[in-house]
Amino acid sequence: MAKIAKVAVIGGGSSYTPELIDGFITHEEEVQVGEIALHDIDPERLEIVGGMVQRQVHFAELDTKITLTGSRQEAVEGADFVVSQIRVGQMAARILDEKIPLKYDVIGQETTGPGGTLKAWRTIPVALEIARDVERYAPGAWFLNFTNPSGIITEALLKHSNVNVVGLCNNPINMQHMIAEALGVRDEQIFLEWVGLNHVNWVRRVYLDGQDITGRMIDLLEMAGDEFPFDPELARTLGVIPTWYLQYYYDHPHKVAEAKAAEKTRGEVVREIEKALFEKYRDPNQMVKPPELSQRGGALYSEAAIRLMLSLLLDRRDVQIVVTRNGGAIADLPEDVSVEVPCVVGAHGVIPLNMGHLPETIRALCQQVKSWESWTVEAGVTGSRRAALMAMLVNPLVPSFEVARALLDEMLEAHRAYLPQFFPSGTPSPE
Ligand code: G6P
Repeated sequence: MAKIAKVAVIGGGSSYTPELIDGFITHEEEVQVGEIALHDIDPERLEIVGGMVQRQVHFAELDTKITLTGSRQEAVEGADFVVSQIRVGQMAARILDEKIPLKYDVIGQETTGPGGTLKAWRTIPVALEIARDVERYAPGAWFLNFTNPSGIITEALLKHSNVNVVGLCNNPINMQHMIAEALGVRDEQIFLEWVGLNHVNWVRRVYLDGQDITGRMIDLLEMAGDEFPFDPELARTLGVIPTWYLQYYYDHPHKVAEAKAAEKTRGEVVREIEKALFEKYRDPNQMVKPPELSQRGGALYSEAAIRLMLSLLLDRRDVQIVVTRNGGAIADLPEDVSVEVPCVVGAHGVIPLNMGHLPETIRALCQQVKSWESWTVEAGVTGSRRAALMAMLVNPLVPSFEVARALLDEMLEAHRAYLPQFFPSGTPSPE
């Protein structure tokens, strides 16, 4: 049994929080948490979600104290784990990220393309502030970053703070689960050689009980429908299995047309899902995570979080796919950038497996997207216009310098209120 004295959740008023708590309930035989401190800057959301969480814990008879606080220092102080799941500018900002790029025939998406860029820029200053609090009030704590774009935020924290950060996403375990389900086997029988960056990754090889079944998997995935939205010939041409977010790169014009034709953006849909969820959270008779939560894309992220916590605490030294410092794990990328690869996780921390060179079929795209991520970090930290323009320009979904500059200007202006690094005294920095 692992014991955790305190977990701090920054962005605790998120509609996802009951999912995290449900994870602790599901794993109550393996882990006991003394206190979960929820922090949020929105007192109303904190109260509603906090009330739900208190009922969940009470109903499950967990011996865990739930604290609700508007003070980040209080939340973080003495925590063993700090989970970050913030959304700076909330859903309204996401919807702008989704809509503005479409005017330029570029996809609007919260983690990909210009939308991901702006979300990163809004988030980086706040993520670094949280990191300063963790350095000060919980030195040695593990900082689990779920905040999107997870790869970019994790890279900003790796390069510009001293916290022990690990970036997390639910995609790898979902992919493992989907493959296991398609084959009718247990998840643990599947091992994925996962290479790339967060939301820009490929499964290079799939093993079932140690046997390489990549070819068979490619044939099977053709039948997976929406969960595998690619032309079967693409996977065969690449020789590796692309994962869900790569459709924005391999099928960009089609995704743009689809988004333009849609009545609502994903953010607008999520806003409605959240409305229904908050109704449930307010209901004093609601004792467990409502099923509607599965309509959010991050469902089951608690599994990734708790698995990681358990291995760090219990020195399990198992292999998990997380976002960490490259350090040479992918030979084709710089050492100091973030990558999403299989890592050995134990009391020592997180050590990535050496994945060597990327196949020629995917290398250039991965390098180019990484260049976008790193320019995005640089601009997000410094507020430099040149770095910001480079970030827009180098993104593979942005077709020209003219579009890059127009997108930059329009999107900076739209999000001005959340971009102190670009508008320190109300005017953009010249360099
Ligand atoms: C997936 C991604 C997450 C993302 C989520 C979006 O699970 O891996 O990074 O946050 O989808 O879900 P939403 O319900 O907000 O569209």
